[in-house]
Amino acid sequence: VNTRDWRPVKNLQIAIDGPSGSGKGTIASMLGQELGLPVLDTGLLYRFIGWVASQQACDLNDELAVLTVSDEAIKHMQWHADGIYYQQQNCTSQLRTETVGALASQVASMPKVRKALLKIQQSLADQGAIMDGRDIGTVILPKAQAKFFLTASLRERARRRWRQLSHHAKCDMHDKDSMAEVEIELQKRDKRDANREYAPLQCAKDAMKIDSTIMDVDQVTDRILAVLERRNLITQVS
Ligand code: DC
Repeated sequence: VNTRDWRPVKNLQIAIDGPSGSGKGTIASMLGQELGLPVLDTGLLYRFIGWVASQQACDLNDELAVLTVSDEAIKHMQWHADGIYYQQQNCTSQLRTETVGALASQVASMPKVRKALLKIQQSLADQGAIMDGRDIGTVILPKAQAKFFLTASLRERARRRWRQLSHHAKCDMHDKDSMAEVEIELQKRDKRDANREYAPLQCAKDAMKIDSTIMDVDQVTDRILAVLERRNLITQVS
């Protein structure tokens, strides 16, 4: 039984960009459930490359070396809506740590690596998708019918990330100090992602900016659904 309330237009592409902890992933998966579209978290791809490169003791300052590792790793990778499979194993949970996030941010600043990942992302979104990342509206899907740029204050994003990390017990974070550490790490990552030369974190000209600092998940999701409906990109199923 199809219990979804909304029907999207054919091949609808929704781009969601924003900094770490802005709620992209949560909002994308809420929308995915509502609209029945595949949700693709592009951050996972960069996390995957950073993770494989570090496992193979690759020098993360050597772009060509990372590219070689990346080209080889992609051959053994499958990227589905439920995560990334490497050599037939779902390795997604290992990619979600802060350590791997920092490795991801490093390899994500390499133009050749980004170029190698461009086509994979575009072809997966071909039939319609909700894709979240940093450069989806600007570089990967510039023709997406709907683009959103999510933000929230640094403090609030750190709080969300900290809660997520302690919930998944990916690290030992139970006090205020460790939340401050998450904030410092986030700030570093924001800076690197926003200041890199190639495909930096940027709000596309035609994207709608939503500051979710004092909004909850339902409010943000409802706002986006209302915009999509107003633009006739989705219709309510009675
Ligand atoms: O969203 P995330 O934390 O999983 O992303 C991990 C890193 O990958 C982040 O620091 C920026 C980078 N990234 C990117 O440069 N472009 C994307 N489309 C997605 C992520």
